[in-house]
Amino acid sequence: MRSKIVAGNWKMNKNLTETEALLVQLSAKLPDTDAEVMVAPTFVNLAAAVRTLDSSRIEVIAQNMHFAPNGAYTGEISADMLLNIGVDTVIIGHSERRAYFGETDEILVKKVVAALENNMRVMFCFGEELEDRKSGNHFNIVESQLKNALFSLDVSHWNKIILAYEPVWAIGTGETASPEQAQEMHAFIRKTITEAYNSGVANKVSILYGGSVKPANAKEIFSKPDVDGGLIGGASLVADDFAAIIKAI
Ligand code: PGA
Repeated sequence: MRSKIVAGNWKMNKNLTETEALLVQLSAKLPDTDAEVMVAPTFVNLAAAVRTLDSSRIEVIAQNMHFAPNGAYTGEISADMLLNIGVDTVIIGHSERRAYFGETDEILVKKVVAALENNMRVMFCFGEELEDRKSGNHFNIVESQLKNALFSLDVSHWNKIILAYEPVWAIGTGETASPEQAQEMHAFIRKTITEAYNSGVANKVSILYGGSVKPANAKEIFSKPDVDGGLIGGASLVADDFAAIIKAI
């Protein structure tokens, strides 16, 4: 059985006061579910989030990390720094990191390897741009993103990988992939992993969908057989909305 996961990517939102308040609200509203629930506040508020959620089953995860263990990388955060405050899952490859911060496949593979070497879980994000979908190139793009960053990993590492398919054209735009489009791509991803590794690996990895998931569309998207949950941006910033999305799983 694959884990069901609902994760909130808070991006560059919420100061310390707001972070603590939202976590308290969310804890109070957390639906009873078997799904793993995660939140990714900004770096400066991670330690406080871990403390606030001390007795909660909500897991605090990071939005990014650097691949080097330490050293002269001004402004960056290492795996050890995350682990030391109790954060052992990290989002890598979000489309905003790729688009605004120049993160290439070469950089991403180093980050993935560094996280895995530190025994962390990786939530790896990928997805095509609008023009790729329009030109029918979306399957090729997704396949090459997976191949370049993940397919040189040893099979034993795959139990630490969570995938998040996020079509760039659906992120923060209000435009969601239809449940059928999500299912079609998730099934393609599983087939690609089966070919690169085996069906055991492909059937065990959780594949989340991300891109304008809201309380109104979550249930239909999550009902698809290859969709194992969601990575939620905007709607994770409102406790009632995030709780409703968690309930939908
Ligand atoms: P969104 O963001 O839900 O606001 O579209 C999703 C994401 O970027 O992970």
